Amino acid sequence: MANILITGGAGYIGSHTCIELLEANHKVIVLDNLSNSSEESLRRVQQLTRKTLTFIEGDIRNSDDLNAIFTNHAIDAVIHFAGLKAVGESQKIPLAYFDNNISGSITLVKAMEKAEVFTLVFSSSATVYDEANISPLNEDMPIGIPSNNYGYTKLIVEQMLEKVALADDRWSIALLRYFNPVGAHKSGLIGEDPQGIPNNLMPYITQVAVGMREKLSIFGNDYETVDGTGVRDYIHVVDLASAHLCALNNRLTYKGCRAWNVGTGNGHSVLQVKNTFEEVNGIPVPFEFAPRRSGDVAISYSDNSRAREELGWEAKYGLNDMLADSWNWQKKNPKGYRD
Ligand code: NAD
Ligand code: UFG
Repeated sequence: MANILITGGAGYIGSHTCIELLEANHKVIVLDNLSNSSEESLRRVQQLTRKTLTFIEGDIRNSDDLNAIFTNHAIDAVIHFAGLKAVGESQKIPLAYFDNNISGSITLVKAMEKAEVFTLVFSSSATVYDEANISPLNEDMPIGIPSNNYGYTKLIVEQMLEKVALADDRWSIALLRYFNPVGAHKSGLIGEDPQGIPNNLMPYITQVAVGMREKLSIFGNDYETVDGTGVRDYIHVVDLASAHLCALNNRLTYKGCRAWNVGTGNGHSVLQVKNTFEEVNGIPVPFEFAPRRSGDVAISYSDNSRAREELGWEAKYGLNDMLADSWNWQKKNPKGYRD
């Protein structure tokens, strides 16, 4: 049993990870400024697990908030989710992304160093891979400069953490490169709660299915893929959450900084996702083909053998589960946590 600080723990992936950690009998301390989440998610996490966690409303950019946590709780490790994540928004307000994602991470790492806490799991993204790589993407492939500012912040923080670990061998850092997280907890009590018009495919599909939006626009049907639409590696958020527990266990044993892909290793096209959603849930999803979205690649999916071999992690859920669970959450919470 360890004391784990989870930054951004009230958010989509963080709240699912809180469940995994509480169920593994860890003590959970969440720091979140609620800029893209609600405390209701944490109330439901506690309801589901019948365990309590400590919530601190605060900001990773505020060293006083961080120092107080490290002073008041004997933290063993940090899982760092906090940050902004909307690709389009990052093009309009880059400084907010540099501030939250890069400065925030620097402030966190400085506070950890001061408190002599050297175990960190960082939320990175498959977006750090050079676009010229051919899927399946493995961790030894070259990274590239992402075309959007959000992805750029992930690359910078990854590189910064690598250099920090190189300079001081007390550090033990996991860089988890997520592919496309979707789905929700089986209970339908917690899930993804996007603000405004969703950027990502899955919440857009569920909002069309529930009648909040008229139809799905499929961005591009002329890619060199199975049916012309973009291919991605969708990963159930509960599987993604469990990867954090595996990474944590690994990092509490090994030193240095290492990256792992977290994906299923399977690619699915947008049309396959839409059609399977309709089959699994029996709900039509009206759609139209629209022009390609700028910055999108045709195909991105993982080689996940490093995570399976080194972390002992494996994805338990397939596309049908992801689509059923996404719909279950949306159906039960048409307005997300705002009901
Ligand atoms: P989310 O927005 O649901 O969760 C992020 C949480 O961080 C939110 O609760 C937000 O309120 C909080 N936060 C933001 N800035 C903060 C700050 N300065 N101080 C304290 N709290 C702050 O997003 P998510 O989907 O759960 O993503 C979690 C992490 O995973 C993010 O770092 C994201 O970039 C990364 N990631 C997400 C995806 C994805 O598709 N969801 C893919 C790859 C990587
Ligand atoms: N898509 C549509 N219509 C939509 C939304 C998406 O056709 O309304 C398509 C996209 O063109 C793409 C696929 O669905 O082919 C998936 O798009 P998402 O926006 O859901 O996901 P991305 O692969 O573009 O991006 C995700 C995360 C990023 C992360 C990236 C790589 O949102 O944070 O994966 O890890 F950087």
